[in-house]
Amino acid sequence: MFSADTYIQRRQQLQGKVENGLLLFLGNEESPMNYTDNVYHYRQDSNFLYFFGIDKPGMAAVIDLDSGISTLYGNDISLDHVVWMGPQPSMQELADQVGAQTAPFSNLETLLKDVHGKRKVHFLPPYRDANTIRLANWLDISLPDVATQHSEDFVKGVINIRSYKTAEEIVEMEKALAITAEMHVTAMRMARPGLTEANLTGAVHGIAVGGGGNLAYPVILTVNGQTLHNHYHGNVLKSGQLVLGDFGAETDTYYAGDITRTFPVDLTFTDQQKAIYQIVLNAEMGAIEALRPGVTYREIHLLAAKIITRGLKDIGLMKGDVDAAVEAGAHGLFFPHGLGHMIGMDVHDMEDLGEDLVGYTDEIQRSKQFGLRSLRLGRELEEGFVLTVEPGIYFIPQLMDQWEAEGKHTEYINFDRLIDYRDFGGLRMEDNLLITADGSRLLGPPIPKTIDEVEAIRRKGMS
Ligand code: GLY
Ligand code: MN
Ligand code: MN
Repeated sequence: MFSADTYIQRRQQLQGKVENGLLLFLGNEESPMNYTDNVYHYRQDSNFLYFFGIDKPGMAAVIDLDSGISTLYGNDISLDHVVWMGPQPSMQELADQVGAQTAPFSNLETLLKDVHGKRKVHFLPPYRDANTIRLANWLDISLPDVATQHSEDFVKGVINIRSYKTAEEIVEMEKALAITAEMHVTAMRMARPGLTEANLTGAVHGIAVGGGGNLAYPVILTVNGQTLHNHYHGNVLKSGQLVLGDFGAETDTYYAGDITRTFPVDLTFTDQQKAIYQIVLNAEMGAIEALRPGVTYREIHLLAAKIITRGLKDIGLMKGDVDAAVEAGAHGLFFPHGLGHMIGMDVHDMEDLGEDLVGYTDEIQRSKQFGLRSLRLGRELEEGFVLTVEPGIYFIPQLMDQWEAEGKHTEYINFDRLIDYRDFGGLRMEDNLLITADGSRLLGPPIPKTIDEVEAIRRKGMS
């Protein structure tokens, strides 16, 4: 964790963004897998971590906006617990680490009942049922109303602070990416026909855990990259296939890496794979080149879409005017997702607070068009943002069949040429970038990316 000063400063910044009342932070509890004591890997809430730093269940916190006092609520453990859990820091020691006061957990419920109807209690939108139920009980609101009664000022204040990464956060993100790079290089060196997706997944998961933290999100490692969120790992790798790996580590300080690479099961790409790979690489590099404060990420997304469309036109899969094709959304057949998203303590940073509040503004609103509507970040870029750039090209047989049957975008798509690509799969490339004063900086160590670099590491194998 960071020093107490960091947490104190963050809370002071937040206090300046909401007028009065109490800011209530709920930590996460353990989450049972199949019976109460057999739990999923514990993950504290990111907002709680950001402002109060303590990575333990059984915690909540309040900032009193009128007195300026921050209180961490929780209970000291008993000797019985010490037998099972070992010695633990006291609540006073934990509170001192983040510059807060402390009080027993039950005092929180008493406080909330006392202020009911008298002072505004601001809370963030809960994403776990246990916290929804607690809010309903403590604040005397019906369960369905919890979803609509969170505090917009609180949400906007948190987004406004967490969107700008500080130097000490960037250090942690670089650490996440160093571990993530090792995961990707290992998968690229290890792959060979006969191994399963699960063999590679186990290896990269182990590296994430070995790095002191865990996975930042469930591993996508698949020979069916055309299925965007494919978490099945049961296939055997076969010669001729591509492996799409989208995975990253979370550090012991809860910062995420989110990287994608695609490589051949064989030691080299086929000519067909090379052609598609180079288009995606051009789109990724073109987009990265254009990043700077003042441009909207929607413009960058559309730039990548145009590079993809031009590339697909060059190899005969698309046709017609590139700008008009992108305006019409025809490229969405091959690139049906957004170019990227904010990243930080959450892989899709702050998405619990509302995707559109993080990624859009009153001026830049989310599109309804297929493909563009999946862009999570559309707003103008600012120095200090950290985001992903992740273009891809996918051949999704069901989607190609449907668009062809509907005669959709026939002026821009050569459907008769797609027959040769039905088994191609999908190809994506993803890196994490910090927006700087005059451009951007790639975070983390370089990971093989050009065709030559990828083939070189494939040849090197595990030797
Ligand atoms: N790892 C999911 C994504 O790239 O957004
Ligand atoms: Mn990813
Ligand atoms: Mn991503």
